[in-house]
Amino acid sequence: MPATVILGAQWGDEGKGKITDRYSRDADVVVRYQGGNNAGHTIVVDGERFALSLIPSGVLYPQVTPVIGNGTVVDPAVLIREMEELTARGIDPSRVRVSGNAHVIMPYHRKLDAVLERYLGEEQIGTTKRGIGPAYMDKYSRFGIRMQDLFDPKIFRKKLDVAGKDKNRQLQKVYNQLPLDIDEIYEEYLGYADELRDYVTDTSLLVWEAIHSGENVLFEGAQGTLLDIDHGTYPFVTSSNPTAGGAATGSGIGPRDIDNVIGVAKAYITRVGTGPFPTELLDETGERMIDIGGEYGVVTGRRRRTGWLDAVALRYSARVNGLTEIALTKLDILSHFGPLKIAVAYDSLGDRYDEFPRQQRVLYNCHPVYEELEGWGEDISKVDSYDDLPDAAKRYVERIEDLSGVRVSSVGVGPGREATLMRPAP
Ligand code: GDP
Ligand code: IMO
Ligand code: MG
Repeated sequence: MPATVILGAQWGDEGKGKITDRYSRDADVVVRYQGGNNAGHTIVVDGERFALSLIPSGVLYPQVTPVIGNGTVVDPAVLIREMEELTARGIDPSRVRVSGNAHVIMPYHRKLDAVLERYLGEEQIGTTKRGIGPAYMDKYSRFGIRMQDLFDPKIFRKKLDVAGKDKNRQLQKVYNQLPLDIDEIYEEYLGYADELRDYVTDTSLLVWEAIHSGENVLFEGAQGTLLDIDHGTYPFVTSSNPTAGGAATGSGIGPRDIDNVIGVAKAYITRVGTGPFPTELLDETGERMIDIGGEYGVVTGRRRRTGWLDAVALRYSARVNGLTEIALTKLDILSHFGPLKIAVAYDSLGDRYDEFPRQQRVLYNCHPVYEELEGWGEDISKVDSYDDLPDAAKRYVERIEDLSGVRVSSVGVGPGREATLMRPAP
């Protein structure tokens, strides 16, 4: 396993939490490298459900050091609450470490997120309204406040005055909103600093030392490849880099330290929020996928949009991430459907596209070219080895390998921790 990135190969919610947890049993360090509490990662252990937003999914294993890397944006109140919730459920979060360079989500970021969405009206992105985009905007405009700043009241006050006053001007003069009370924010965040002081450290060094002393390190992506700010369906994306390169920059290691990249992909596909979605099913089949697949957002409770597996997008994801393996999840849900379709190309504006189109106009007009495969029509949720899957299910998996050019190294047949059928390399 040495250093393995686990990331979303689609539009998020592929089952990254479950796969990260699966690999965490042999891990020493698990790192979140981007995003914030826009993520919702579900793990089910003995019927008990954990939904993590900021703390890496490895936290359920006592030997794991969970790390929140420099590339993330941290809402301190959410982090404290998540640690308290874990403690209340018998999980010890005291090993959590947070990068001093991670940027802090401030109240004005949350406020602006909501206001910007309202301003966009019909063009809105459908963000999670957690302040993610505005926090990254401040990071890149160099107005950001980092975790380490919270521990130096003088520096914090200075930075808060600059950033806070700027935001209040925006809120008042551009968006006609009431300003926020900077003094109140200052006091509130100094309180968080007290609670979080012991957790904040140089995580780049921590991760490097772990890798170079032979420990097993996992990097857990949030969101997904098609939500990546550079490689996703811009502008309907999140404001960070979930793709594999983000694991290096977002945790402070070099790309040569990464050995494997596992792309987590659902056996079909879903999307929350707005933006293009070539294989979207707006019919009764799509409705059934929502119901049977339980496709409701972990963070916002929104219904996810559903569609057939998109092999064009998956091949693209394999390329931009350098995937070495695919973890295919939720194959059990497809037991209820048949025949099954997989998009193998697109038709758009009179042309055929075998590769994922880079032009927004082309993408918006894509109609999938489908290949049909027979379903298996029987319950597979109790199957406990890949070899025992029905032949049609294996053909579906192997067709995904052919189309993506990447080996499927595990298949999910249920939400529980044990319901991942590993497929050792031949
Ligand atoms: P993440 O954001 O990528 O971690 O994924 P989410 O937790 O948001 O959504 C994935 C959902 O699918 C969760 O409810 C998981 O419990 C569930 N899940 C994951 N893998 C499987 C699987 O193989 N079968 C079934 N039925 N559910 C799964
Ligand atoms: P996990 O890690 C699915 C989507 C939002 C919106 C867009 C931008 O659980 O897979 P943001 O709040 O990030 O500015 O919203 O990205 N989005 C997700 N969709 N899963 C997620 O996380 C998501 N995090 C953000 O719905 O379309
Ligand atoms: Mg999720």
